[in-house]
Amino acid sequence: MPTPIPDADPWKALNSAHAAMGARRTRELFDLDAARATRFSAEAEGILLDYSKQPIDAQALNALCALADATQLANRREAMFTGAAINSTEGRAVLHTALRDPEGAPLRVNGEDVRAAVGGELERLYAFAHALRQGELRTNDGGRFTTVVNIGIGGSDLGPKMVVEALAPYADAGLDFHFMSNPDSNEVLGILARIDPARTLFLVSSKTFTTQDTLANFRTALASMSRTHGSEAAALGHFCAITAAPAAAQALGFAEQRIFGFRDWVGGRYSLWSAIGLPIILAIGPQRFAELLAGARAMDRHFRTAPWGANLPVLLALTGIWNANVLDARTLLMVPYDARLAALPAYVQQLDMESNGKGVDLAGQPLARASGPVVWGSLGINGQHAFFQLVHQGTQRIPVDFIGVLRSPDQDVEHQRIVFSNMLAQAEALMCGRSRDEVRREMLAAGMAPERAELLAGHRSFPGDIPSNTLLIDELSPTRLGSLVALYEHKVFVQGVIWGINSFDQWGVELGKQLGKTIYQELCSQPDRTAHDPSTRALVARVHAALQ
Ligand code: F6P
Repeated sequence: MPTPIPDADPWKALNSAHAAMGARRTRELFDLDAARATRFSAEAEGILLDYSKQPIDAQALNALCALADATQLANRREAMFTGAAINSTEGRAVLHTALRDPEGAPLRVNGEDVRAAVGGELERLYAFAHALRQGELRTNDGGRFTTVVNIGIGGSDLGPKMVVEALAPYADAGLDFHFMSNPDSNEVLGILARIDPARTLFLVSSKTFTTQDTLANFRTALASMSRTHGSEAAALGHFCAITAAPAAAQALGFAEQRIFGFRDWVGGRYSLWSAIGLPIILAIGPQRFAELLAGARAMDRHFRTAPWGANLPVLLALTGIWNANVLDARTLLMVPYDARLAALPAYVQQLDMESNGKGVDLAGQPLARASGPVVWGSLGINGQHAFFQLVHQGTQRIPVDFIGVLRSPDQDVEHQRIVFSNMLAQAEALMCGRSRDEVRREMLAAGMAPERAELLAGHRSFPGDIPSNTLLIDELSPTRLGSLVALYEHKVFVQGVIWGINSFDQWGVELGKQLGKTIYQELCSQPDRTAHDPSTRALVARVHAALQ
């Protein structure tokens, strides 16, 4: 438990802790505490989190833990796990954790036995996947399905896509996967041109089954498939719907046995554990999917029981709070150093930014301080040769999460040495930096003229003190990936609690959708010459003319 701190206001205590550190550099904190590297590390479920390169000391950590206590984190956490309607603006429980624990303690929401509902749907999904993977489920012409196209966007795309890619070494059914998210003709027609319609299964994934992009892609895919299969009814034999609104799918012609469901207490960006994960089950099979769920469940248990100072999601969240609210860092860079995790930054981007990109508290009042950061990133090594320049020497401080996987199937040790030497060097360089004096001395020692050395010293020096976490995962098995994803889910939850916001709604996407409907109507008929601001009006007219 944290030691008591003098300030009654836990936010002020953070500033006091920051002031007490003075101008001390992060590198110096290691000189003051020989055990810092291990003291500021924690490990659970095969994931080591080294947060010792964060610019915090013991007082700062205590203040952060006290802040977590002051915001009733433990109570809020239990409220989530036990099905309270913590998504207050939508009046819903938040129970993605129940999806990975079908045999947990009894849980009822809206009079329904949650465990039974989750277990029952999982059985249906497993049976369907088993039949398709074994070749028992046949195409209209009696052959095997070889290709799966997932039509969905946001949470109905990013999660399954990321996991199918990350667990590609475990894919054992010889199926090809395509993820059609964008309604742009280039993407839709491109995928349709690449697949064999006689061998392809389409999964139409949409929690609401109202998303314009997904429905447009579905209609185009169905029309294209109907041409091959002779009729819409026959083509629908190659389609499944995955949704929390089964009636909407039935209204579009899906047969009941081809609709897989989940409840509205599963947020879209938290839904890969539900029927939305069907592409994953098809790719790696029910047994491996159960391992993915087990890994997430293990992280849930860790999050629910570990003290703050040893709790991975809480530590990730608290260091993020320090960076956002004390250091005023407005972004978070995520850089996996493993090609299998290439889609992880985009996945976490939606998870974090759609959850915590909010400007009001639970009572709808403006927040007093910054909330969710801009989350961005890509594979680390590629980033080094593209945007790391700005991270090292730009004018803003950009905290980084480095993610490495220690063992890979079929690994070439020499290649892995290159990868890890880069990753560790980047974190070291970001923290330690290099002073002007150091650089100048080196250049003079190498024989450079003093004026030239003076000129270059500024260009070649590095400010350092850029915060980073290093996460080392022992292997990228389904179990570990489940734990990793749950780790980031809970991190986002903790930050939302501390900022006092509802992390589970997304009203911010509504206005654009609403205006988009009006503009769509104009593009179909005539631009309204009295509507919109002058800029939008002129652009609508220009696009309308181009699309005639
Ligand atoms: O517009 C944002 C959003 O609602 C996300 O929250 C969601 O993941 C995505 O669109 C897709 O929604 P649906 O699964 O209902 O099609």
